[in-house]
Amino acid sequence: MSDKFSVEGKVAIVTGGLGQLGTQFCRTLAAAGAKVAIYSRRPADEATLAAKFPDLTGRIRVFVASVTDKEALERVTDEVVALWGVPHILVNNAGIDSRPSGPADQNSPFEVYPQKYWDEIIETNLTGVMLCCQVVGSRMAEAERGSIINVGSIYGMVSPNQALYAYREKRDGTPFIKAISYAASKSGLINMTRYLGTYWAPKHVRVNLISFGGVAAAGFDKEFIDAFLARVPMGRQAEVEEYGGVIQFLASDASSYMTGSNVVVDGGFTAW
Ligand SMILES: NC(=O)c1ccc[n+]([C@@H]2O[C@H](COP(=O)([O-])OP(=O)(O)OC[C@H]3O[C@@H](n4cnc5c(N)ncnc54)[C@H](O)[C@@H]3O)[C@@H](O)[C@H]2O)c1
Repeated sequence: MSDKFSVEGKVAIVTGGLGQLGTQFCRTLAAAGAKVAIYSRRPADEATLAAKFPDLTGRIRVFVASVTDKEALERVTDEVVALWGVPHILVNNAGIDSRPSGPADQNSPFEVYPQKYWDEIIETNLTGVMLCCQVVGSRMAEAERGSIINVGSIYGMVSPNQALYAYREKRDGTPFIKAISYAASKSGLINMTRYLGTYWAPKHVRVNLISFGGVAAAGFDKEFIDAFLARVPMGRQAEVEEYGGVIQFLASDASSYMTGSNVVVDGGFTAW
């Protein structure tokens, strides 16, 4: 049974693979024997890679491309194919959100929310995934195999609860509204996953999504964490290491009968 979870010798692409979750996904896949191509907007020097991926740098390479730039995606994917062959795994992980510490208008009330932030987030989180699927998934379909994993969020399934952020206005005196764009982009991914999962089923390319809950990280306000954790049945945020297993599962033959699905990994947040 454990062989079913193997990704030994497979070729994986992880977009945004130098970020918090992406780094973990690359570690998991490389430690399980895959060769991993990171698509990143910026290059990374050897010291950075060695620090992030001790003992795994031989299996991990960075390719410079934004997920919003189709020409760059075509170019780097040609390079990956020439180096390692047609990829078996694509993890659409790159994503952006409005920053709680960003300019006030990023978190302004919906009625006056600037379109430029909507455009940026939709372009990266939704159009970027579509382009990566088009460029990499088409090559997988031609090879008649592959697994695409889209990285979603609980906010693709349920709306952000504005009560979690109400302390900000009380504290700062400025309205703070968790914006619409991220939630809309991640919910769009759920049906993009169903669309492509069914579209490519005859070509044996599986497409699934994971709706992740919040991961522990530095920098959250205590008021936010207390309010958030009160709504998580497991009473805690995830540790990033806890997210690798489901990636390996969906990347490998252990999930061979799954496509078009939304796998929820959220400590029970959306079960309440
Ligand atoms: N951190 C969480 O709690 C959490 C929860 C649920 C879902 N997610 C999702 O997980 C994914 C990773 O999030 P994270 O928390 O690791 O964020 P992060 O900011 O640490 O990592 C995101 C990475 O994507 C890269 N990126 C952004 N735009 C890009 C582009 N146009 N082209 C290529 N790369 C680009 C960034 O440079 C960064 O390295 C995102 O899709 C996010 O929505 C995160």
